[in-house]
Amino acid sequence: MAEIQFYTGENVPLELHKVRIVQKLDLVPVERRAEAITEAGNNTFLLKNKDIFLDMLTDSGVNAMSDRQLASMMVADDSYAGSATFTRLTDKLKEIFNTDYFLPAHQGRAAENIIAMTFVKEGSIIPMNYHFTTTKAHVTRLGGSVEELVIDEGIQITSDHPFKGNFDLDKLKKLLDEKGERIPFVRIEAGTNLIGGQPLSLENMEATADLVHSYGKLMVIDASLLQDNLYFIKTREEAAKDLSIREITKRISAKMDIIYFSARKLGFARGGGIALHDKALYTKMRELVPMFEGFLTYGGMSVREMEAMAVGLEETMDMDVISQGPLFIEYMTNELIRLGVPVVTPPGGLGCHLDASRFIPHVRQEEYPAAALGAAVYIAGGIRGMERGTVSEQREPDGSEHLASVELLRLAMPRRVFTLSQVKYAVDRIKWLYDHRDLIGGLRFVEEPSSLRFFFGRLEPTSDWQDKLVKAFRKDFGDSL
Ligand code: F0G
Repeated sequence: MAEIQFYTGENVPLELHKVRIVQKLDLVPVERRAEAITEAGNNTFLLKNKDIFLDMLTDSGVNAMSDRQLASMMVADDSYAGSATFTRLTDKLKEIFNTDYFLPAHQGRAAENIIAMTFVKEGSIIPMNYHFTTTKAHVTRLGGSVEELVIDEGIQITSDHPFKGNFDLDKLKKLLDEKGERIPFVRIEAGTNLIGGQPLSLENMEATADLVHSYGKLMVIDASLLQDNLYFIKTREEAAKDLSIREITKRISAKMDIIYFSARKLGFARGGGIALHDKALYTKMRELVPMFEGFLTYGGMSVREMEAMAVGLEETMDMDVISQGPLFIEYMTNELIRLGVPVVTPPGGLGCHLDASRFIPHVRQEEYPAAALGAAVYIAGGIRGMERGTVSEQREPDGSEHLASVELLRLAMPRRVFTLSQVKYAVDRIKWLYDHRDLIGGLRFVEEPSSLRFFFGRLEPTSDWQDKLVKAFRKDFGDSL
């Protein structure tokens, strides 16, 4: 990674790319923002792009592509079976992960579906450092359950632990001893999404895999957020600082039986799949690909995306490329800390995470503080974040609410999409909101789907707090947008 110091001592991350295609953005007035969030049922997933200024919902499928990725899409080899693009992609995966087999899938959750359908049965237990929404939904759909065994620091919102995503090996050993016969595989989620994009150390990943293998179980890694995790291993783990990104990647993959990913994240394209070392495992899962995804040489993806993914995976081995996200997130997090706004620390990958529990402690968890904060941030700045709290959980089988262990609003940082001044604007509006946090109230469901409710559920404010927020904005900002 290039170390570039500013002569004046300013400490800001410097973009190591230039922008060659742009998209015009509109910032609609605060009154329209309040209207739009009402139309969207206070669910940021249901907002329309024309009403959004900074879309920090996710990095999924919306990272900026490189010139090389776009160029490669023009030479993609289109054919139903046997496409040269697929061969280039599998060769690239072999080069990076040393895997001999690849099962393509249309995106990450489709890979999860294939793995779950192959291994999860009624009563299965799947230990994970932490769950991801779609992963858990596939496991529970098939009658299995998830055990989260992240270290205690993982769910402490503020910490200086560099690897808050680490597996708690004592807990894992105990579970394997007590309920091993119900465990088909153990899942590591690199760059643990729901607790703030927090990484695992290389040492912990290797030790977890050794433990799991000593019980004869399969080791699965969700590598969707691996690029951030690689950056953190390289920069935070003393024993890995002299390893190249390629070497770290190979060390990880050597310990994994199944490596699956969303290529909407890893590889900066769209699509996904499962990379494997072992032919028997490959054969076991193979027939589900043509059944649910598409033929084995495209699996529901367009060849253009596969070509872009191959190039994106190569670019993931470059610290100058993968450092951009974490450095911008670190900048945004540190600026918010400086202004007293509660955030998840240390800064992780994926995005900057506001701690709704401390931002609006007066809003009870049953009134969905992270979702309420999401609506408020949108009203304050036209900035779209993603609720990562109780709304993103599933109700218990008896219908009771499953209160999330953390109530976060994620402000994702799609790679190379936003400029530093846009990040500064977001920080400014969030600081304004923090100074008016007493105005923010709770939400309640008016329409609640039984599964993945955060995607299409609709909520309403429990009082007229949003009108008050709009009035306060007008008072402070006058005619400004
Ligand atoms: N695993 C992780 C860790 C993810 O972050 C995601 C997606 C998936 C699996 C599923 O992949 O979307 O391609 O089907 N995360 C997105 C997000 C949705 O916004 O964080 P997918």
